[in-house]
Amino acid sequence: MTNRNKLAAAVGQLEEHLLWLKEEGTRTIAADPKSLNTAATPAPVSKPWKTDSPKVPSLGKTAAPAFQPLPPPPAPLIADVAAAQTKLAEIARHIAGCEKCVLCRKRTHTVPGQGNPQPEIMFVGEGPGEDEDAQGLAFVGAAGKLLTRMIVRMGLTREQVFIGNIVKCRPPGNRAPLPDEMAACLPYLREQIAILQPKVIICLGGTAVKGLLNNQTGITRLRGQWQKYQGVDVMPTLHPSYLLRGGGEDRARWWEVWNDLVAALRKVGREAPPQKTSAAS
Ligand code: URA
Ligand code: SF4
Repeated sequence: MTNRNKLAAAVGQLEEHLLWLKEEGTRTIAADPKSLNTAATPAPVSKPWKTDSPKVPSLGKTAAPAFQPLPPPPAPLIADVAAAQTKLAEIARHIAGCEKCVLCRKRTHTVPGQGNPQPEIMFVGEGPGEDEDAQGLAFVGAAGKLLTRMIVRMGLTREQVFIGNIVKCRPPGNRAPLPDEMAACLPYLREQIAILQPKVIICLGGTAVKGLLNNQTGITRLRGQWQKYQGVDVMPTLHPSYLLRGGGEDRARWWEVWNDLVAALRKVGREAPPQKTSAAS
């Protein structure tokens, strides 16, 4: 484009602009050079709206849209849960192939434990019994059924908590695991707790207390007294099997366990739902 043509185009645009201003109702054009210095004195701006409606945004400084910080990223909970689940599955795979103690010889299934990968409350028992060994799941036999009733009475579900054991393979004849068996297996439980990060651990029975806390105090004396494991609050209580066997004939023992469960609930900021009178047994 030649200079001449450029000039013609510019004049044409200017003409168009002036005609548009005329149609808009503009009758004068300020020619004062000061008024052209828009940085110092803003030139009068014709209102783009016909009314002074208060809804109309002002054209002053505040008209610039306020800086909107990006919304915070969504809570990474789902990713965390998935990551925890993956890590727990990895530990379970290690356990499935573990031969670190003699309990591997007679097992049918390993029982790594199961439940919520990010629970508020975690239960730790002793070790798998016959039903658990058969199914590869913790607390699914008679003691497990009582534990389920306890959890429901707490206003929770088994899916909301994590249920595990000190040893992951069944001791023959349901004997208590021996100290070296517990020592061999404990790293798995430690890893699980590190991933689960429960707010409270409820130790079910003396073996769980001995294994996790290395505390040799009898469970009937220690129960109901808060302990700590790696900064996590631990409530020792009686094993449900104990309640189902002789110890359970003393109804006071059931109430002791219930008190311990209520204390654990309160620790995580919960209350047990009111008891249905028909459920009293
Ligand atoms: N008793 C336990 O201690 N753990 C189980 O998983 C079942 C019974
Ligand atoms: Fe391994 Fe634990 Fe089973 Fe022993 S009880 S074999 S340490 S998983």
